[in-house]
Amino acid sequence: MELLLILAAIAAFCQTTVNAQYGRKQFPGQPPYRPFPPYRSWPHKRPSPPPPTNKQPVYPQLKTTPQILGLANDPALDRDSCGSMTFLDRTFWTCRDTQLFYPNGSVMISPLITSTASWSDFNRFGAPALQQLPPGADPINSTVLKLYGKNTINQAFYPILPNYCDPPAGNCSDGTRYALWPDLPPMITSSGRGGVTGYTWIRTSHIRSDLSTVTDNPNAILYKVTYQGSSFGNKNALPKVSVVDEFFWKEGEITFGNYGNVVKDGIAYLYGLAEGITSLAKVPANQVENKAAYQYWVDGKWTRTMPAIGQEGINITNSNTGGGQGTYYFSEQWNSYVWVGGPVTPGSDMYITTAPDPTGPWITPQHFFTGINGNYFLSAYSIQAHPGLAASSRDNDLYVTYTKNDLDAEGINVYTSPLVYIQWK
Ligand SMILES: *[C@@H]1O[C@H](CO)[C@@H](O)[C@H](O)[C@H]1NC(C)=O
Ligand SMILES: *[C@@H]1O[C@H](CO)[C@@H](O)[C@H](O)[C@H]1NC(C)=O
Ligand SMILES: *[C@@H]1O[C@H](CO)[C@@H](O)[C@H](O)[C@H]1NC(C)=O
Ligand SMILES: *[C@@H]1O[C@H](CO)[C@@H](O)[C@H](O)[C@H]1NC(C)=O
Repeated sequence: MELLLILAAIAAFCQTTVNAQYGRKQFPGQPPYRPFPPYRSWPHKRPSPPPPTNKQPVYPQLKTTPQILGLANDPALDRDSCGSMTFLDRTFWTCRDTQLFYPNGSVMISPLITSTASWSDFNRFGAPALQQLPPGADPINSTVLKLYGKNTINQAFYPILPNYCDPPAGNCSDGTRYALWPDLPPMITSSGRGGVTGYTWIRTSHIRSDLSTVTDNPNAILYKVTYQGSSFGNKNALPKVSVVDEFFWKEGEITFGNYGNVVKDGIAYLYGLAEGITSLAKVPANQVENKAAYQYWVDGKWTRTMPAIGQEGINITNSNTGGGQGTYYFSEQWNSYVWVGGPVTPGSDMYITTAPDPTGPWITPQHFFTGINGNYFLSAYSIQAHPGLAASSRDNDLYVTYTKNDLDAEGINVYTSPLVYIQWK
């Protein structure tokens, strides 16, 4: 209830802003004004905070108890591990393994699509277009934010290349699988009316049916995601994906950018995780494809020599829970780098840590919420922050999802993505 009041207050405030900015009159019977394109062109970035006066870390504190609003879902798809980026006028989501439903609601075993993508909309006030749940509905079992978009069943969103067995699952005749899972949404390096460019590094994980790995530190493919904007006719069309380099990170190298990434002031900061150690590289955001432009944080300074896995002096201490899945982003409100994510072991415990600089010092990760776990032994994971969903909010708020993993009556995994709303002081 309180949330609705708050959303209503934001809505009322933003409506005033929109009307003032566009000098638009509402006439009786006229549908609410929807500036297009893009209808989020009114200032959805709050004025820049003053430059940092000190480099003290921020210790986040909750303002209200986090709330599960419902599911962020394409109701037609059973999908694992979704993350998002907001650009132009919508939020773009990528997910890992995706299956379809039979008309009776059971999950189909095949096809298994290693990655799919979606859009979600904003309402005219710049808030996520949340649907009202039916009276008495259980939020853990009801779609509150509808995801949509045109996927295919023949190929994954990030295409399975010829060396990685059969699309769209990456399944091999010996029973193993190349699971080309996107662990994160694309890192957006440029976005404007001329188009959007983003990048995703995908580890070529070669796994057995028990999820054990055939290769410990496989090569990572660098995919490029481009999008030219939508028009009314093709809202369902998804961005295009191409391959920059199948061996961008070679076998045995740290796969920087795959564990986390954040673009700030034209620099892409790329986190890598290997042997439980988090390390960091940086590159100008417009030179992601140029390996020679990369620098690495070693022994407290930037160097052009790529460190080896396990090398001393590369650990970015406290920048996460020691390897749990999560999201790095920059918070304007705190003028800080932030990581929100989960523990290394399964579960929906959520942690946050902040730092004034991508290299640190990071505060000890703090626990702030526990969601509802699924009944499968991998009960919950893939905690992902969606800072773009709240980009136009004047509050210090954040949306987070996680994957809840349940087994259905036939013993097939059903994945859902509860959407959690968080307000910070
Ligand atoms: C739903 O239909 C599929 C395909 O016909 C079938 O295999 C499955 O057992 C059905 N599930 C239920 C719960 O009836
Ligand atoms: C979720 O909702 C669907 C459709 O209303 C229903 O069939 C299903 O039993 C519900 N599941 C749970 C766990 O409540
Ligand atoms: C992969 O799975 C599909 C669908 O289940 C099957 O048709 C195909 O033969 C499999 N490919 C391999 C190499 O086993
Ligand atoms: C790296 O830092 C983490 C804390 O973030 C710590 O738990 C871990 O032991 C460190 N590893 C090494 C090899 O120093």
